[in-house]
Amino acid sequence: MQRFPDWRYAPNIGGHRDVYELENQAVLRAGHVLTAMRMLAPWDGRRVLDLGCGTGFWLPVYAAGAAQVIGIEPDPGLLPAAADRVAGLAGVSVQAGSAEHLPLPDASVDVVHARFAYFFPPDTDAGLAEVLRVLRPGGTLVIVDNDYRWGEFAGLLAGSATRPPLLTAAAVDRWWRERGASRHQVRSRLSFRSRAELAAVLRIEVPVAVADNWLARHPAATGLSYGYVLFAIATLPLGEHDSASASPRLLLAEGRPRNPMVAASTPPQTSSAPPT
Ligand SMILES: C[S@@+](CC[C@H](N)C(=O)[O-])C[C@H]1O[C@@H](n2cnc3c(N)ncnc32)[C@H](O)[C@@H]1O
Repeated sequence: MQRFPDWRYAPNIGGHRDVYELENQAVLRAGHVLTAMRMLAPWDGRRVLDLGCGTGFWLPVYAAGAAQVIGIEPDPGLLPAAADRVAGLAGVSVQAGSAEHLPLPDASVDVVHARFAYFFPPDTDAGLAEVLRVLRPGGTLVIVDNDYRWGEFAGLLAGSATRPPLLTAAAVDRWWRERGASRHQVRSRLSFRSRAELAAVLRIEVPVAVADNWLARHPAATGLSYGYVLFAIATLPLGEHDSASASPRLLLAEGRPRNPMVAASTPPQTSSAPPT
């Protein structure tokens, strides 16, 4: 199987598929981040690319409305799981590939989702260029990242970070801002069906000692507050391209919060919506 030089093994999903599935189920149950993604780039009737799709958890979710969904995944251990998940599902396919090596023609997809995949700046310009190559005019890239500033999960990340999380957050925000992305905060909560599920998920996301320390300080918890930051970049619709320019020009999207769970923001402003 082809190896992709930009592939970075993700130990949470790569080493613990079943537990990562529980985490994705909790994200889906909460619904907030999906609503925000849909608001930033509606995909009903569109062609969607899920970049770094992992075991393909989100492919059927996107496929419920999309005309076509393509999952791209560089990890040869995860790709078959994604393919199995969508076997027989009309309009959904899975292919080996990576952010910097997309096996797709120019201007062939409407929406690209990258959920916690590849886009961990600063070294991601090559992948961004490749995503912009495959986006149609008027298409949108939506990145889902952690909010390092808000929520109990941010506290756990801070407890395990080697670099102060506020510096990381500022650098990530700046990187996307310089590339014309809009920034959106989503405040949510992960609620699990049992404490054992919560504990298992925390232990794959942060060092076990950090997770266990948090669990000991929250003896009744079966969930925790979780903040996301979404970045979105839209390409100019057809007819608005600069004919002198070979590459699609970016639409500098201003945040348009229409959903109270989502705040378009310039840090350190925060969303006004409480987690449910
Ligand atoms: C934390 S997992 C998230 C998986 C999936 N997006 C989800 O939400 O269930 C990160 C994924 O990014 C993939 N990945 C790593 N390097 C990548 C690259 N260069 N391009 C695209 N995906 C990559 C990993 O193999 C893994 O499947």
